Amino acid sequence: MNQTATTPAPATTAAASGPAALAAITTVVAAELAAVDLSISEQLRCDIALINDVSAHLIGSGGKRLRPLTLLLSARACGAAGGGDSVTLAAAIEFIHSATLLHDDVVDTSDLRRGNPTANRVWGNPASVLIGDFLYSRAVEMMASLGRMRVISVMAGTTNTIAVGEVLQLQNSGRAAVSEARYFQTIHHKTAKLFESAALLGAVLAGASAATEHALASYGRRLGVAFQLVDDVLDYAAPSAQTGKNHGNDLAEGKPTLPLIHALAHGGRRQRKLLTEAMAGHQRTPQLLSEVARVIESAGGFAYTAGRAAEQAQQAKDALAGLPPSAAKDALLALADFAVAREY
Ligand code: IPE
Ligand code: IPE
Ligand code: MG
Ligand code: MG
Repeated sequence: MNQTATTPAPATTAAASGPAALAAITTVVAAELAAVDLSISEQLRCDIALINDVSAHLIGSGGKRLRPLTLLLSARACGAAGGGDSVTLAAAIEFIHSATLLHDDVVDTSDLRRGNPTANRVWGNPASVLIGDFLYSRAVEMMASLGRMRVISVMAGTTNTIAVGEVLQLQNSGRAAVSEARYFQTIHHKTAKLFESAALLGAVLAGASAATEHALASYGRRLGVAFQLVDDVLDYAAPSAQTGKNHGNDLAEGKPTLPLIHALAHGGRRQRKLLTEAMAGHQRTPQLLSEVARVIESAGGFAYTAGRAAEQAQQAKDALAGLPPSAAKDALLALADFAVAREY
């Protein structure tokens, strides 16, 4: 598959997990990603200091830029020359992602994001919600500036789907007895849809065929599911210093994710009791977190979730089988591996 000797080493190795691996994947669209960052800072400019401060705080803290990356690589892999509309759209998609993070951190009462205090912690919930709305609406302006009805229509559906996903998640809250099907429905909505649309719109901007559009949408959806599955393992399994987010936030917020759902279905009676009480309870101490993590581990919840992520990533890669060989295609394949192997 790796037919181009000049392709910068995105490979399925143990090293496919950290910033260096991600940097290698981004090489093929590095100039466009730099243009996306420029577009982001231009579009954030606003006369109101609080808007500047809050949005610059979040966006300036970094972030992996995976959704813009997905769109840019998709466009390239489908034969687009790059630049122009794809840069504006990639920036708008990162704004939508950023808006969901501002809102999500309020809902999840998180106080750490990208290694920094969250906006809600620094400026409070009202500012986070309102500036999240600012970012959403600025993204709509940017998308409208492209004058492409298809883009507007896909993204209108996408933002609505994300909103539904966050509400589904709210309804799951505190309930250990959420089914796997319900969990997958939730993560499709809240996370996978944005990856799906980023990949789909890359193909649309490249003027790809309907079959290619479908393949890229399918790639993005699988990538997004794998990505969230791993996020849900890392929430229990990785320290804050590694993820830049609160360790154990999902348990603290009573959010039933697949590691716990699986453990609940496969653990013994005493284990099930501990998990159910931990989810329903309001006393979620560090000791309880490590006890819950131990129970999930011994009931195979982490291994099962990682296995499902690997399966989704493989399906994402399979969806690209019909694309001609290119460095961008190789990078998309490597990105699917990264989503599973990632440490942050
Ligand atoms: C965090 O997404 C939200 C989820 C969908 C899990 P990312 O892990 O892509 O966040 P940043 O942009 O890199 O901080
Ligand atoms: C992602 O879920 C929510 C969004 C789609 C915004 P999480 O709640 O797991 O994301 P993190 O872990 O806070 O980044
Ligand atoms: Mg969260
Ligand atoms: Mg999470």
